[in-house]
Amino acid sequence: MFNVAILGYGTVGSGVFKVINDNADVLKKFVKDDVNVKYVLDLREFPGNPVEKVLVHDYDIILKDDEVKCVVEVMGGIEPANTFVRKAIASGKSVCTSNKELVAKYGAEILALAKENNVSFLFEASVGGGIPLLRAINESLTADNFDSVAGILNGTTNYILTKMSTEDLSFDEVLKRAQEKGYAERNPEADVEGYDACRKIAIISSLITGKQVNFEDISTEGISHISKEDIYYSRNMNMPIKLLGLMKKIDGVVYAMVAPFMLGEEHSLRNVDGVYNAVNFHGDMLGNVMFYGKGAGSLPTASAVVSDVVEIAKNGGKNIDIPWDKECVSLGDMASFKAKFFVRLEGADLDDKVKSIFNGVTFAEHLQGETAFITEEEFSAPELQSKLEGFKVLSTIRIAE
Ligand code: HSE
Repeated sequence: MFNVAILGYGTVGSGVFKVINDNADVLKKFVKDDVNVKYVLDLREFPGNPVEKVLVHDYDIILKDDEVKCVVEVMGGIEPANTFVRKAIASGKSVCTSNKELVAKYGAEILALAKENNVSFLFEASVGGGIPLLRAINESLTADNFDSVAGILNGTTNYILTKMSTEDLSFDEVLKRAQEKGYAERNPEADVEGYDACRKIAIISSLITGKQVNFEDISTEGISHISKEDIYYSRNMNMPIKLLGLMKKIDGVVYAMVAPFMLGEEHSLRNVDGVYNAVNFHGDMLGNVMFYGKGAGSLPTASAVVSDVVEIAKNGGKNIDIPWDKECVSLGDMASFKAKFFVRLEGADLDDKVKSIFNGVTFAEHLQGETAFITEEEFSAPELQSKLEGFKVLSTIRIAE
């Protein structure tokens, strides 16, 4: 019997309980033993729910039980998750988690602690929900130098942008609907301002480089300023707007950012809609490889968490090495990162003025009282800003081709 304790019986925790119980036969095929949820830790009571039989309110019960080989942390947030995870590892238990805040901030540190204690720390579900991305980086994508990663890493914002486009609604209208349906959090800031995607691209970048990429250093812009008018142009030009998490290595310098982009005809992520996530890696030998699937939700996320439980059990609880050093990567200055831009200016009849400033632009069929175009040259954000001095700028959005 391989005994597991789940910390937190929320959306993901209840999913983990269900996956382990409903798919017991599948798990047994790989583990060659029964996987058993011995405890679920939660402050709440769940009268009438089967979880009642294993529910505990005191973490020490789990820590002191030597039969528990794996702790599943699905509480979210930094504390008490951080303390609980470190205590589990110090007690000789492996840990798996879906907690991207914890992994982005302390991933390298906790991995080092796990190594010292000869146990494992796995976090497949922290990025891309149910998509098996991180194990792919560590076990499959091991023969290449990866010079670029581009991902749609947040289901909530992708759902909002998709609905704004297909139903011609404003950001606020879609957000309200998404909250009513439970797709978006009551406090949507982490999703809509890009903070969630920022932590996810920080984790991916850390695993790709094998060093600490601090999420605080990543230039992050969300989607709350994307207007109905921006979406109108994106639809007319057949260039969907997506919130991308990007990592690029140029001349040995690593750049990372989160920002909305308009995607061109050839872009591999342009058809990733709704709550789906997708990530494209480019390797020097492999070329492009793309992963696609459900990036959020109870069961897809739980499926990834339980795949970590299986991995830990198969490995006898011993340390699984994940190269992620504490040494920090010094990221390149995003101010020098260049892209073509879509630009909207207040005022019609500005075409000649615009043509005199830029070496080449493609004008868009514009809304009344404004001028809109795509630059043919690439600019850094400060370069574009200085070109547009004197104009009333309504919006600028980067292009990814
Ligand atoms: N809020 C996240 C999203 C959940 O919308 O993608 C999964 O991390």
